[in-house]
Amino acid sequence: MLNTRSNRCRAIAILFLTLALSSSSAPAQDSSAPGQQVDARVDTLLSRMSLQEKIGQLTQVGALDLTPEQRKDLGDLLPEDPVSIEDHVRRGEAGSILWTTNPVFISKLQHVAMEETRMKIPLLFGYDVIHGFRTIFPVPLALAASWDPDLAENAQAVAAQEASAVGINWTFGPMVDIARDARWGRIVEGAGEDPFLGAAMARAQVRGFQGQQLGTPGRVVGSVKHFAGYGVAEGGRDYDGAYIPEEHLRNIYLPPFKAAIDAGVGTVMSAYLDLNDVPASGNRFLLRDVLRRDLGFKGFVVSDAMAVRDLQTHGFARDPQDAALRGLTAGVNMDMASLTYLRNLESLVQSGKLSMTQIDDAVRPILEVKIRMGLFEHPYSDSAAAESILTDPEHRKLARVAAQRTMVLLRNENSLLPLKKTVASVAVIGPLADSEKEIQGSWGVEKAAQAVSVLEGVRAKLPHVRVESVRGADLQRKYPSLVDKVFGVKPTVPLAADQLKSELDRAVEAARRSDTVVLVLGELANMSGEAASRVSLDLPGNQQQLLEAVVATGKPVVLVLLNGRPLNISWAAGHVPAILEAWYPGTEGGNAIADILFGDANPEGKLPVSWPRTTGQVPTYYAHNLTHQPEDDKNFTSRYLDVPTSPLYPFGYGLSYTPFAFSKLQLSQTTLAPGGSLQVSIDVENTGRSSGSEVVQLYIHQRAGSASRPVRTSTCVIRMNLLFS
Ligand code: BGC
Repeated sequence: MLNTRSNRCRAIAILFLTLALSSSSAPAQDSSAPGQQVDARVDTLLSRMSLQEKIGQLTQVGALDLTPEQRKDLGDLLPEDPVSIEDHVRRGEAGSILWTTNPVFISKLQHVAMEETRMKIPLLFGYDVIHGFRTIFPVPLALAASWDPDLAENAQAVAAQEASAVGINWTFGPMVDIARDARWGRIVEGAGEDPFLGAAMARAQVRGFQGQQLGTPGRVVGSVKHFAGYGVAEGGRDYDGAYIPEEHLRNIYLPPFKAAIDAGVGTVMSAYLDLNDVPASGNRFLLRDVLRRDLGFKGFVVSDAMAVRDLQTHGFARDPQDAALRGLTAGVNMDMASLTYLRNLESLVQSGKLSMTQIDDAVRPILEVKIRMGLFEHPYSDSAAAESILTDPEHRKLARVAAQRTMVLLRNENSLLPLKKTVASVAVIGPLADSEKEIQGSWGVEKAAQAVSVLEGVRAKLPHVRVESVRGADLQRKYPSLVDKVFGVKPTVPLAADQLKSELDRAVEAARRSDTVVLVLGELANMSGEAASRVSLDLPGNQQQLLEAVVATGKPVVLVLLNGRPLNISWAAGHVPAILEAWYPGTEGGNAIADILFGDANPEGKLPVSWPRTTGQVPTYYAHNLTHQPEDDKNFTSRYLDVPTSPLYPFGYGLSYTPFAFSKLQLSQTTLAPGGSLQVSIDVENTGRSSGSEVVQLYIHQRAGSASRPVRTSTCVIRMNLLFS
């Protein structure tokens, strides 16, 4: 529970600290319809459904629009399927469709389901609406850097409105995997390393996607993913398995899932990973004991894409039939896109390996979610309203504010920032300087709004100033991206050595001619996200060379980073006076960056992940246990001999244009029994000359106990707006 009292320049933060996590009082599954009525409707439906129709509800059919060439390129990633999607629906073989955003197609399929099938059960249309649909918001890792759950909630509410305007009624988010290894590409999709911040962001995003309850108009049902432990992938390699002790599972990886479930999330997605030698999508312990029994989840579980089929690929299931049996009995209700349930469940029932009761138990929560969403009564989106929702200027305004509030100022020597608008000339340099595509980050939707690049943002801010731009370096993924292949995005052609050299020379000349340089470096959007792990955190391509060459000109340089993970910027941290971590800030990214650079907005983000000095330091996270030797031992270093143990920038770090002073920390009592609470208060003062908001972070640690506990654990966060008077 948080409370603030603020006057114009001084505020007292009062934080209530409750020891031992008590479960939230929110109902696990809220509903406008009384539970009994929902149960009765489900019973009636089930009593009338054939086995085939029930299996249809357990099946989600992929609707990727692929050319024959793309299909060939993807090999056996997707199942061969001679039946059209429309026919699957007409035959009652689909409870849900995924991967289409075409409103005409969605409406057509829903009409087929509602008018041409015997049971007239509406379809769920699922899509990865991860950080925006038409309007792209900052990536989830960036949203977490705002440390502001309300902001995340509002952003996801807009995303839900836009997606539902075209008929999508289910998003595969929030992604809440705690990640402590920056090599893992999917660190960008979650809230970073900390269970407390992760839980706050999980809860907020569920509220944003779903509204107060399932069935809130203009919202969608969420799917918290990837259950569970996916972020622990060994070596940061995507899809790799993990060995997670139960203590870690329960204390670190599950709290964000619990928060999402307590907030009423309607569905959970089971992960790809092999957890302690049992694939998560065939893992009874996870899906029954933990998810249903311990976390009290009442909605339905969808597998990750192809994960039921891939129980065989893992060397776990014997054949597709065994995969279907293991997936269903473990607790996966809906098979995403692999058609393994559709092709095998019937024979499993006929042979007596599965009972009709087991099938009914799997179908029940799917029907329940559809009923609670009001889909039977309102299966269609309002196409007349769609365009005005998708182009609502308020959405872009929120996207700009969100982007401003997620950026983290990492360095600002001699207050180089904010830059003066009276500057005579600016060079905006870097391979990402004028990219409207990369600034959106991964999981951007094809029909996303036109985004503003950094160059465009700076030009709009300084209409009368000479602003020139040079790429200066080249960026390429070495191996093609799986996700690009699926969406038919062609790889770009790398620059040849002589072209690279001339780009670098042009960049240096542009820097020399200008008063100030804004250097925009980082990663392409497809360098983080799914199947985008990296073995090195160094700036990819020849960007380090560009950075050093531009800094050598002696001009004032501001480094703006566009990226989805901590990068090795140790050299920059010692040589570049100002560094702004902008993540992938989305549609309004360029404008928001210019707002921060030229002082129209204050940088207020704080890192949601520890920032390592070098790749070899990962996994790096603040909540580690103490060792037998204090890490700040002045006499010798024992943990590494070649770099300090501490990160380059710690979790929770972020500068601001205005300084804050913290004083008078007080506790209402000095002892706290399990389950008890105490009040912590502190004076926070804005001692600078401009307005700003500050995040007050409270950490606790245990001095002694029956088990070792981390050196610090975050327990309470409060964001305060402090005006300067
Ligand atoms: C990803 C999920 C995603 C799903 C559907 C999978 O490859 O792991 O996060 O929701 O595809 O697109």
